[in-house]
Amino acid sequence: MFIVFIGPPGAGKGTQAERLAAHLEIAHLSTGEVLRQAIERGTSLGKQAEAIIGRGELVPDSVVNAIVAERIDQADCQRGCLFDGYPRTTAQAESLDEFMNERGTPLSLALEIRVSEEELKRRLLSRGRSDDTPETIEHRLQVYESQTAPIVEYYNTACLLVSIDGNGTPDEVFGRVKDCVDQRRK
Ligand code: AP5
Repeated sequence: MFIVFIGPPGAGKGTQAERLAAHLEIAHLSTGEVLRQAIERGTSLGKQAEAIIGRGELVPDSVVNAIVAERIDQADCQRGCLFDGYPRTTAQAESLDEFMNERGTPLSLALEIRVSEEELKRRLLSRGRSDDTPETIEHRLQVYESQTAPIVEYYNTACLLVSIDGNGTPDEVFGRVKDCVDQRRK
């Protein structure tokens, strides 16, 4: 299965994608994680991304599309992949459709995780990653609304969207995620 996770910063995309990837035994691709590793290693990609992530803005579509194109050609993505934090713009969603169509492996599901803004801020402030400052969190939430939220409608139109309540414990949320996926697999 090829599944997209959509949700604002702190919604639990990474937490749930990791669990679901283990459950389905498929790959997990977090574009945010790839970028953070590149920053840690000091690569040219990392140097390009560091200031952008620090400001809470989006890395250019061409950069993340290239990361995804390279990753999904690897052997562990043959059976499926969970896309966590990608796509984040309509242009990225269109590119992902092209990649999937070229491979003949269409997306199975776009899972939107919904969490109240108050809870998102509470989670991010208690985690304290370098882009989890109050100002950057505020900007990331605005960027989500203006640039990423439109892909919810994009996947709704494609009849791929399922929205779940992301409030509650990670176990409770995973129960909902698993129910949705198991229904799609039937
Ligand atoms: P990315 O790493 O994708 O960050 P994000 O979308 O801001 O998401 P987070 O990692 O903050 O939250 P999450 O929803 O994964 O929640 P998590 O499980 O971690 O991207 C970072 C940056 O990289 C972007 O701002 C952008 O600059 C760049 N980037 C990445 N992809 C890009 C793309 N496609 N295009 C352009 N730019 C891109 O949980 C958050 C916290 O809450 C954790 O501490 C967790 O333990 C806790 N938690 C999770 N679930 C629960 C729960 N149910 N109850 C209580 N706590 C919980």
